[in-house]
Amino acid sequence: MASHADMLATKAPNPYVTGELEELFTTRRPDSEPSVLDAGAGHGAEALWLAAHGWNVTAVDFSPAALDLGQRNAAQAGADVAERITLVEGDLGVWAPEPRAHDVVLCLYVHPAGDMAEMITRLGSGVAPGGTLFMVGHQSVDPATGEPTRAAGQHQVSIDEAGAALRGDEWEIVTLENRRRDDQMGGVDAVVRAVRQP
Ligand SMILES: C[S@@+](CC[C@H](N)C(=O)[O-])C[C@H]1O[C@@H](n2cnc3c(N)ncnc32)[C@H](O)[C@@H]1O
Repeated sequence: MASHADMLATKAPNPYVTGELEELFTTRRPDSEPSVLDAGAGHGAEALWLAAHGWNVTAVDFSPAALDLGQRNAAQAGADVAERITLVEGDLGVWAPEPRAHDVVLCLYVHPAGDMAEMITRLGSGVAPGGTLFMVGHQSVDPATGEPTRAAGQHQVSIDEAGAALRGDEWEIVTLENRRRDDQMGGVDAVVRAVRQP
């Protein structure tokens, strides 16, 4: 049965967030005020779910329409959820988070212009020591068939670029792999999870 937190979101939060990262978001100490940055938050399904679990969320997107919808969804979810969400209009091609300010930085399915490795490094700069960077990118070509996917023409996070951006002592790589999608979108997702070393 869906929890109260799950029912607050108008669209189900991303299964990677509720699956791979759920333990981060549901084992919060009652007295803590953890912080997550959702970069490219869209209309805020993950932000709503996270806020409903007691996280403070900074949700960044460059689409005023997405932010507007996110604002309305947050208001509908109630004051206890809405007050935990800060919506920010920003272009992830250049926008930078407050350094080391967030316990988790999420970035799911964005396709900014510019150098992807640079964006990964820039967004990663917002992760606090011991915190987690989690990114997912739908690859534009299906590696099994060589056919274009529904993300054709988009440049999303890849494991090669993430591996290059996160190499060195600063990060422990937990996950760096392509996973086959099981929906009608087809192809694979690059899934990246890394922990900033203290
Ligand atoms: C496919 S949606 C994904 C939304 C959400 N992360 C999710 O997984 O449901 C991509 C989002 O990224 C945003 N986006 C794409 N490029 C961006 C950029 N350069 N700066 C900020 N947001 C961007 C879009 O406006 C859109 O809301």
